[in-house]
Amino acid sequence: MRKPVILITGAAGEIGHSLIQRLSDSGRTGIVTLDLKPLDPEIARRVQHPIAGSILDRALLESILAEYAVDTIYHLAAQLSTRAEFTPVAAHEVNVNGTLNLLEFAQAQGRGHGRPVMFLYPSSIAVYGFSSVAEKHAAGRVREYQYTEPITMYGCNKLYCEQLGRYYARHYRQLDADAPRALVDFRAIRFPGLISAFTVPSGGTSDYAPEMIHAAAQGREYHCFVRPDTRIPFMAMPDAVDAMLALAAADRDRLSQTVYNIAAFNPSAEEIRALVLEAFPEASIDWQPDTKRQAIVDSWPEAVDDSKARADWGFAPRYGLAEAFSDYLIPNIRRRYPSGP
Ligand code: SER
Repeated sequence: MRKPVILITGAAGEIGHSLIQRLSDSGRTGIVTLDLKPLDPEIARRVQHPIAGSILDRALLESILAEYAVDTIYHLAAQLSTRAEFTPVAAHEVNVNGTLNLLEFAQAQGRGHGRPVMFLYPSSIAVYGFSSVAEKHAAGRVREYQYTEPITMYGCNKLYCEQLGRYYARHYRQLDADAPRALVDFRAIRFPGLISAFTVPSGGTSDYAPEMIHAAAQGREYHCFVRPDTRIPFMAMPDAVDAMLALAAADRDRLSQTVYNIAAFNPSAEEIRALVLEAFPEASIDWQPDTKRQAIVDSWPEAVDDSKARADWGFAPRYGLAEAFSDYLIPNIRRRYPSGP
């Protein structure tokens, strides 16, 4: 008998790090991970089988299929929005073809063990696209189906993969004489920018917020690459992980859509700086906007409407902006950099 497990791709990234910690703290065993990079030793010891490899390696996916009965997939592997702009074809390869591979993998798993495979997919506010800051301000809180004309390769990839997931969940091989039952239970969350006290992102465009906080906590100066009035939604990492687990636990019949916005707070960059300065009064943070990265952040909404997530599966974040700083970020980040200011 193949062993029943959870598979997490991109496990060495920021979300993977927190997700594995949370799953293992709650007693979950049977976690298999796939990442090009090695896991932190603290995280690796919580994993049954950390596999070093690529989601583009089909032979490797076949071997995982042969060894394990995967019931749930957290497909976190992706190239983020800034990095993807430098290598768009490679980003498409990882973000789209990699996701297609994992959807086929899920379908094959479901066929193998006869049960639907839960497929959790982190999408992003990058799927939205405004053509001007005026349009962004006028739009306010956007719903899932509005303004979906992304200006980045990453945003295009995420938007398309949401559609691919819905196809696998509801319409896969619909013309086959004996059309296979929907064996991929695809569920996606459009995350805002995420801020962790324990890790820093790399290659994203919402990175200015976490970078600012982590730099101040280490006594390093920070040159912020967006204007002070820049506003997009953010969320504390524990709420992002809780949201994924809550969506995974939701009764399928209650889910009216496959993709959900979630929201917590949406400070301007200036407001983030003010909170950082409250905690680290000596911090040196100035403004050196990069017009190109600024344009990407300006194309993202300043707020999203998450009423569907709240109604369908009870999404309710723990941390507003003030609590995210006072109860989560600042205490943990001080412990993380004990020789900081
Ligand atoms: N935080 C991501 C990025 O900046 C967006 O999902 O690329």
